Order: sequence, then structure tokens, then C-alpha cells
Amino acid sequence: MKQLENQIAVVTGAGRGIGRAIALKLAAYGADIVAVDLKTEFVQETVEEARKLGRKAWAVAANVAEAASVEAAVEQILKEAGRVDILVNNAGITRDGLVMRMSEADWDAVLDINLKGTFLFTKAFSRSLLKQKSGRIVNIASVIGLIGNAGQCNYAASKAGVIGLTKSCAREFASRSITVNAIAPGFIQTAMTDKLSQEQKDAITKQIPLASLGQAEDVAEAVLFFASPAARYVTGQVLAVDGGMVM
Ligand code: NAI
Repeated sequence: MKQLENQIAVVTGAGRGIGRAIALKLAAYGADIVAVDLKTEFVQETVEEARKLGRKAWAVAANVAEAASVEAAVEQILKEAGRVDILVNNAGITRDGLVMRMSEADWDAVLDINLKGTFLFTKAFSRSLLKQKSGRIVNIASVIGLIGNAGQCNYAASKAGVIGLTKSCAREFASRSITVNAIAPGFIQTAMTDKLSQEQKDAITKQIPLASLGQAEDVAEAVLFFASPAARYVTGQVLAVDGGMVM
């Protein structure tokens, strides 16, 4: 029997990149998948791939930054899938700029999607998770939330916030056997990092002991661990998946 058999996993931002890799990793290990993204078209491929792996899969549209949208999506998910065992809060964006020049709109957009979105999805599922007295929540933070980065004050603040949120929820939900952990990826090759110039990528690689950017698959493996029975006794942790960049 596969280790996540009979479990239902919700992954936000599952249309591409890290979210897609996480959804397909959990599906490969037996979980049925609810793939959430801004539009259902974005997750069609993810859903089809999960079905090819023999899993049930649903495509759900939601803007994680809007409470009404999240509440409607969660209601739909609980109605269609029946329950949720694993929630992966992965949807996230960057809007980089120096503090002096950062617009309020760029600050708000990043905080709303990365931090408030994680809060809203966690809150919307909390009643059902607490009632069933089991569950796994995995939040995708970033090493930038640990060490900061010039030009990313909004992103760093949002990801540091995700880490604080993770630890608080871990404490709140522990008595019901629900674990809450975070992963802090380093630089991972996706559309988000494709925006960087080759020069920037070379400079970053020099700071990584394992001397390369990571793959979405590397993050998915860490999510699988937190979601698996092997991590039963692990909560409130932040695991850096970063080639040794932060240690
Ligand atoms: P990506 O840009 O390739 O994919 C993000 C996905 O989230 C997209 O499918 C997008 O449509 C969706 N999304 C964006 N805003 C949304 C919203 N408001 N509601 C619902 N879905 C929304 O990004 P990537 O690289 O796969 O990143 C995934 C997560 O990993 C993010 O939280 C990011 O901050 C984090 N991360 C990424 C790193 C990297 O180097 N790529 C490093 C550290 C953390």
C-alpha cells in the first residue's frame, strides 16, 4: 500500500513550478489531489497527470488573497472531495524593488498572496481538520524569510510571516494531532527564478555549497516527508531545501 493512500491533499498554486511538482509527488504516493490555482485552466495538466497516476483529482479556482474566494473554494472542496487530510499552502509571488521605491501596491500584493493567503486557507480548513483530529499542513516559505534580501523586503516579510504563522498554528493544532511545518526553499528553477539574469544566477550559485539551483522535485520530496506517516512526531519546524545556502 502506498503511504498516502486514501488521503486527500489540497495544493494551492498547483498549476506550475513547485506546486505542480508537489501535487504530482503526493499523487505518486497515493493521495487524491485537489489542485487550486487562480483559474481551473491553469491546473488542467496537473489534474490530468494525477489521474494518469490512478488518483482522483479536482481542479478548483481560487484567489488565495481573497477571503470570499477561499471560503467558496473550501466549501466546494469539502462538498466534492468530502474531507481534507493534507493542505499545502504553496501559492506565492514576487514583486521586487528597493524599499525606497517600493509601491504600496507591490507591498500589499505580496503580503496578501504569500502571507494572508496561507492564513485564509488554513483558517478555512481548520474547523474540518480540528473535528477529524488529524491532518498535515505544509507551508512553503523561503530562505529569504530567514536571511532577508536586498530588493525583496515585501517577499522576505511575507515569508518570515509564514514561518511565524506556521509555528503558532503548530502550537494551536497540536492537541488534535495536526502537524504544521514549513519548507524554506533556496533558489529553485521555476518561472519565478527564470526572471533572473544569467549574471544574477551565477552570483547566486556561488553562494550555494551544493553549487546549483534546486529543482521543484527537491521541494516536493520534503513536502512528502512532512505529509507522510514518518513525520508523525514533527511539528513547528522549518526545513531549508537550499543546497546548504543557509546553515
Ligand atoms: P510560480 O510562479 O512558478 O508558480 C506559482 C503558482 O501560484 C502559479 O501557478 C500561480 O498561478 C499561482 N498563484 C499566484 N498567485 C495566486 C493567487 N493569488 N491565488 C492562487 N494561486 C496563485 O512559483 P514557484 O517558483 O513554483 O513558487 C511556488 C512557491 O515557492 C511560492 O510560494 C514561492 O514563494 C516559493 N519559493 C520559490 C522559490 C524559487 O526559487 N522558485 C524559492 C523559495 C520559495
